[in-house]
Amino acid sequence: MPVLVILAHPNSGSFNHAIADTVVRTLKECGHEVILHDLYREEFDPVLPGSEIPKNAPVAAAVEEHCRQIMACSGMVIVHPNWWGQPPAVLTGWIDRVLRPGMAYEFDEDDSGEGVPRGLLTGKTAVVFNTSNTAEQREKDFFGDPLDLIWKKCVFEFCGIETYLRRTFSVVVTSSPDLRKQWLDEVSSVVVKYFTPHRK
Ligand SMILES: Cc1cc2nc3c(=O)[nH]c(=O)nc-3n(C[C@H](O)[C@H](O)[C@H](O)COP(=O)(O)O)c2cc1C
Repeated sequence: MPVLVILAHPNSGSFNHAIADTVVRTLKECGHEVILHDLYREEFDPVLPGSEIPKNAPVAAAVEEHCRQIMACSGMVIVHPNWWGQPPAVLTGWIDRVLRPGMAYEFDEDDSGEGVPRGLLTGKTAVVFNTSNTAEQREKDFFGDPLDLIWKKCVFEFCGIETYLRRTFSVVVTSSPDLRKQWLDEVSSVVVKYFTPHRK
């Protein structure tokens, strides 16, 4: 089963793109099949229309493809900058549209949607790489690290992910080329660790 890589950054020269390139290269070196979605480049439409909300509703063809892939991957890697303590809108919209009821999660028969869901994703590993311009301690102490809550509890535990790692690289704006290289080396090491090589 392939590993899904989701990238949400508008600029191809960004450090986020360098991270995604490193992720894809390392996964391939480990023998994985990789599906990369560069959400900006493919102009993913992040607006969930009301007609797509019901559980078995028909969805746009592009969304259907993402849904099929998310249900048939061995895990995923998500790459995005911290924008206002959240993922960029193109990615929050991807969550809205792709992580659908009956596909990514399910409530029990006697539950009208207020209870605790069952996660349905079969790929059980998710790694998130973030970038930001806030020092790590300030992000935790002052802002409460909202991205960790979003990804860990609101999204991945909800959808049945069992192994989760999130790593934020900061402060990007003042980082030296040497430090960025170290960060990319770390990206490679994390990918190897979390997506055990099939072959070397
Ligand atoms: C719309 C917008 C909102 C941002 N909000 C935050 C923020 O809340 N916290 C933060 O540390 N950095 C914030 N930043 C800075 C980005 O996180 C930073 O530019 C990015 O992580 C650097 O990586 P890049 O070179 O790949 O763009 C924001 C940037 C933009 C454009």
